[in-house]
Amino acid sequence: MASQMISSVFSRALVSSTRSTLSQGRACQLRRVVCRYSTTAAAEEPITPPVKVKYTQLLINGKFVDSASGKKFKTNDPRTGNVIAEVAEGDVEDINRAVAAARKAFDEGPWPKMTAYQRSQILLKFADLLDQHTDEIAALETWDNGKPYEQAAKIELPMCARIMRYYAGWADKIHGLTMPADGPHHVQTLHEPIGVAGQIIPWNFPLLMFVWKIGPALACGNSVVMKTAEQTPLTALYAAKLLHEAGLPDGVLNVVSGYGPTAGAALASHMDVDKLAFTGSTETGKLVLEMAAKSNLKSVTLELGGKSPFIVCKDADIDKAVELAHFALFFNQGQCCCAGSRTYVHESVYNEFVEKAKARAIKRVVGDPFRKDIEQGPQIDSEQFEKVMQYIRSGIESGAKLETGGEQLGSKGFYIQPTVFSNVNEDMLIAKDEIFGPVQSILKFKDLGEVVRRANASPYGLAAGVFTQDIDTANTLARALRVGTVWVNCFDVFDAGIPFGGYKMSGQGREKGIYSLMNYLQVKAVVTPLKDPAWL
Ligand code: NAI
Ligand code: MG
Repeated sequence: MASQMISSVFSRALVSSTRSTLSQGRACQLRRVVCRYSTTAAAEEPITPPVKVKYTQLLINGKFVDSASGKKFKTNDPRTGNVIAEVAEGDVEDINRAVAAARKAFDEGPWPKMTAYQRSQILLKFADLLDQHTDEIAALETWDNGKPYEQAAKIELPMCARIMRYYAGWADKIHGLTMPADGPHHVQTLHEPIGVAGQIIPWNFPLLMFVWKIGPALACGNSVVMKTAEQTPLTALYAAKLLHEAGLPDGVLNVVSGYGPTAGAALASHMDVDKLAFTGSTETGKLVLEMAAKSNLKSVTLELGGKSPFIVCKDADIDKAVELAHFALFFNQGQCCCAGSRTYVHESVYNEFVEKAKARAIKRVVGDPFRKDIEQGPQIDSEQFEKVMQYIRSGIESGAKLETGGEQLGSKGFYIQPTVFSNVNEDMLIAKDEIFGPVQSILKFKDLGEVVRRANASPYGLAAGVFTQDIDTANTLARALRVGTVWVNCFDVFDAGIPFGGYKMSGQGREKGIYSLMNYLQVKAVVTPLKDPAWL
């Protein structure tokens, strides 16, 4: 399932769950929610999450431990802002302990010394355990993050298991080459793990980002220190425990919850970390790159922000384009680095598109993410909520036309109405900045050369969507756009083997697929003389 496009899987999952819950009693409840987002379940009492929080300590050297300082921080429920749990707060000393454990596991421990096949068996077992614990982990993810439970359980968790199986498959297929030399030498390359990988992840896809990062690192034989996002520490701790149950030796994966400027910065600037992988904002990406350079020149991969164009040509299937443009922007509450957040529509179909996009946004089902029929939950926290509301105000002030939405939904938590702006142009902040919220901006274009120039005139270059029925137009736009992924007549199609990453200020390097393996390997050339070339 995970190999299929998220959009179709998601809509199918939604339809089937909607059908399955349409028992008589729930039907009217459902109808009430479906009809109008402005009277959604956001205003109702939050559903009690069907899960208990088990793990709140740091996971260092195979054991759950308190932070060295004894400090804790609160992780909150985005539906209400209430505290879910107090979690051990890692800082410099904890990062030092975690890096020391990872160093020992790498230098002395069994992980890089195990056969690659043995490593792959542990990763496969972990994938099975993820499958077995899907309901519980998905519930934790929804509670901590606010994303629809259906999305977490039916798309993201299966995708996590899929990704782990993909990398388990790679573990014993990573090897070097032999090459000819201009002389009497035997030349080969060895592909070796780098050592201790530091990994810093964000809150928008907490468990997916966790497996995107640990998958290639562990398959290649590295050890890891993971710093999770302060907004969403819970699922990584749970999953890391499962990985130990699957047989991961102590110290190979250490998980430190905590804040960026303390624990995150300590990891990025640590002298004994050999490689850093970061996903988050471009602003913080610059900081960690600088810390890596100023400390020990550890190699860095960055997966950063975006302002991805979604181009609807005049010959596009408009209804499909409206639906996918809606999905491209609103999926995950608009909190996606690759969100299609500049919707460019050809002038000949612009008015029709705007009307339909507005109608679709009004129909969007927003409410308690634990309800089965929900498409959109709350934003992650008050900071992101305020940021998005500020952009909405800025859109109105700069003269864009607010077609629908624009307000908070309910009075509790961080719900925002699905918002659509038309008559947007590139001078406006809403067309320049990464909003990271449920705010669609629709721009008009006249010809393809013009839209390519406008789409590329951004410091970002993460992804793009192209909607056309003309193969030549599709191929030409795919080549002309300066982005890491072009989705043609589809969007947000992710699979383990498809590389993902950005041009320009959207990042450095690629994750997933074979490309990600090279981030976690050193290449060693081994050259030996031949005894007597005449024997060959
Ligand atoms: P952020 O980039 O500050 O946080 C991401 C991760 O980096 C978190 O684990 C955080 O603790 C860590 N971090 C923060 N400051 C650090 C530092 N000085 N040293 C080391 N690590 C540090 O993102 P934030 O503040 O959560 O969100 C701000 C904006 O960033 C969002 O509104 C959105 O536009 C963008 N963003 C993009 C993401 C993406 O997937 N590309 C994910 C999350 C946020
Ligand atoms: Mg921050």
